[in-house]
Amino acid sequence: MSRPTRPRSSASPRAYVCIFVASALLGACGGGDGESESESDGEQEPAVVEAFDGDALASGNKGLACDAQAVEARVDELLAVMSLEQKAAEMHGLQIAPIDDLYYAGGDEALGIPALKMVDGPRGVRAGTATAFPVAMARGATWDPALERRVGEAMGLETLAKGGNVLLAPCMNVLRHPGWGRAQETYSEDSYHMGAMALGFIHGAQNHVIASAKHYAANSVEDTRFDVDVTIDARTLREVYLPHFRRAVVEGGVGSVMSAYNQVNGLYCDENGPLLTDILKGEWGFRGFVESDWVFGTHSTIDSARAGLDIEMPQGLYFGANLVDAVVNGHVDEDVVDAAARRILRQKLCFGLDAAPDPGPAVVESPEHRALAREVAVKSMVLLKNADAALPLDADSLASVAVVGSLAGVANLGDEGSSAVTPSAAVSPIDGLRAALEGGATQLHELPQDALGEPELATIAGADAAIVVVGLTHEDEGENLPQNDLGGDRDSLQLRPEHEQLILEVAARNPRTIVVIEAGATILVRPWADEVEAVLMAWYPGMEGGHALADLLLGAESPSGKLPVTVPRSADQLPDFDHEGLEITYDRFHGYALLDRDGAEPEYPFGHGLSYTSFAYSDLSVSPARLEGGGELTVELTIENTGARAGAEVVQLYLGAPDAGVERPTRALAGFGRVELAPGERARLRMRVLSEELAYYNVVDEDAGAGGWLVTPGQYDLWVGASARDLRLTGEFEYAE
Ligand code: BGC
Repeated sequence: MSRPTRPRSSASPRAYVCIFVASALLGACGGGDGESESESDGEQEPAVVEAFDGDALASGNKGLACDAQAVEARVDELLAVMSLEQKAAEMHGLQIAPIDDLYYAGGDEALGIPALKMVDGPRGVRAGTATAFPVAMARGATWDPALERRVGEAMGLETLAKGGNVLLAPCMNVLRHPGWGRAQETYSEDSYHMGAMALGFIHGAQNHVIASAKHYAANSVEDTRFDVDVTIDARTLREVYLPHFRRAVVEGGVGSVMSAYNQVNGLYCDENGPLLTDILKGEWGFRGFVESDWVFGTHSTIDSARAGLDIEMPQGLYFGANLVDAVVNGHVDEDVVDAAARRILRQKLCFGLDAAPDPGPAVVESPEHRALAREVAVKSMVLLKNADAALPLDADSLASVAVVGSLAGVANLGDEGSSAVTPSAAVSPIDGLRAALEGGATQLHELPQDALGEPELATIAGADAAIVVVGLTHEDEGENLPQNDLGGDRDSLQLRPEHEQLILEVAARNPRTIVVIEAGATILVRPWADEVEAVLMAWYPGMEGGHALADLLLGAESPSGKLPVTVPRSADQLPDFDHEGLEITYDRFHGYALLDRDGAEPEYPFGHGLSYTSFAYSDLSVSPARLEGGGELTVELTIENTGARAGAEVVQLYLGAPDAGVERPTRALAGFGRVELAPGERARLRMRVLSEELAYYNVVDEDAGAGGWLVTPGQYDLWVGASARDLRLTGEFEYAE
């Protein structure tokens, strides 16, 4: 890790910087140290924060550190002695219900082959009690892959402690429309941002267990997920829906990929040869195994096996004896079974599943993991609005605060489908505020309800500030489970009517009304946003969420989360979202790219998030001015904390290709860095863009959707800013072949 050296720091002795830039983690994430301190108060250049090698993020990832030769030799030995039945037995789950919360697949004691033991999922380990982290969308709002690596590492360790060896995460489906019921399980509407965050998770988790990148591919509608056919043209698929999966494979060495339930271009994902064999295993060189999504995710014996599905989960209905028969009868080549068994055995050996260490139960919900859950929650909450510096609340000068709304008194952890995690305890917003205010002079009026009578309204009117905690729960959005009517996709992106009503009632009585929203993705804030002073997006903040919320509301911490999803003015600004039809077309544009194309004004843009301090951007440099093929662009700028308190800024780099000759996004995210600065402190951030990041997918054979990546020579524009619409610095460069 290269650390910044600070010749001069005007006010703060410490800096903490993470930069994540195109295609590889090149940035640093680490506390400032003695080296960065300076005695001098004179005017000097700010320290250059060098992007550092991605090895720090990738360190310990067993998927990247596999001794290929020795492993392949051992796989050869095993395959040589295994019967067709034994090889086929590696290729399916053991039974529909989990055993001790784990789904088993394959394994042969006599041959010394361990079973795969799989467990969900994206916000913690779904086995007994475990640390419940903020949901992935919240973690996406941290824009901090190094922090996400720590989350992956913690979940991987807890998976081991539960006896598991495959963690069914990360979910990395692009949030095409925020109405998707499982929005909370993924990180982003943007492929670049998604790739960066998922990579952090995979590197961390694979220090301990096999991660599973899911759901491959284009799984962004819930209610019809088992059947819907997603039509996508080749460019859109390659440029919008696949690049992050590619990074998980190529840079992350992910050990497994879960195929999605849905169809892509007329083929179910488990039977989708173009996706599984041509792209994933062929072009990207994936060396792990593909398992189907559960129960309804495998559709056939012959077609699935031939297309490249390696494991049917959670049992062997199409595979198992039927697959053996298909081979015996000549419908499936035995090479297909050999290739799948090789992939599975390879990962078992690479990850040392036969001798997995047992970290013991104490790592589960350990003080470190709970502290991490709190840190992540603090860094994930997004301050959307803060008029008249309504926040932070100063406990020393407040006589009373009223806390209102039915979600104020519950620890709202999110979906109760496959991503559900049960912590042994969880902190509600009221719990968190009560703990933070304990012993002080501020009186806390607890009104955890949606309907208020006159006495409660009078209390609210008399309080110095009113905090309204509202939003969604697992009843409003989530995985669509056939056995109940809960969850699924959202028809409306508004709050429930009673919550909107509550906000307006409170705002009419208390001029310092602060709204805290809990949800998995975008909430439309009309008609109430103009009536309140502050709006804080808390997502589903995990088991320590109440403490994190109090940290931010009372100013122990400054907000630094930024939206990983656009909040539009109205749903009309979003793509069509038919979550009942069985056919849907995914266009190239959604989210900020769609609003940019249409010249539409969002309510809160992608990347937006306020702080209690302020930051100035200056002195952009872009070099070289003329980039040659295969080269790398270096972008630097100075970022300064111009406010009176410490804070963190997520600096975003967007690229535009006006000369491309084909339709491209006006601006596409191509790098970002999270910088923590003390008041008055400056840092010089350096981000790099590989020339391949400029490419578009050039379809040369329309029928086959085949083509290649191409960078058009000509001028490219770049912007550096605090959101997709708060662009502070602009630059340009030329690309030459
Ligand atoms: C979900 C997956 C999950 C699996 C196992 C499926 O229904 O789509 O995300 O990993 O169940 O629980």
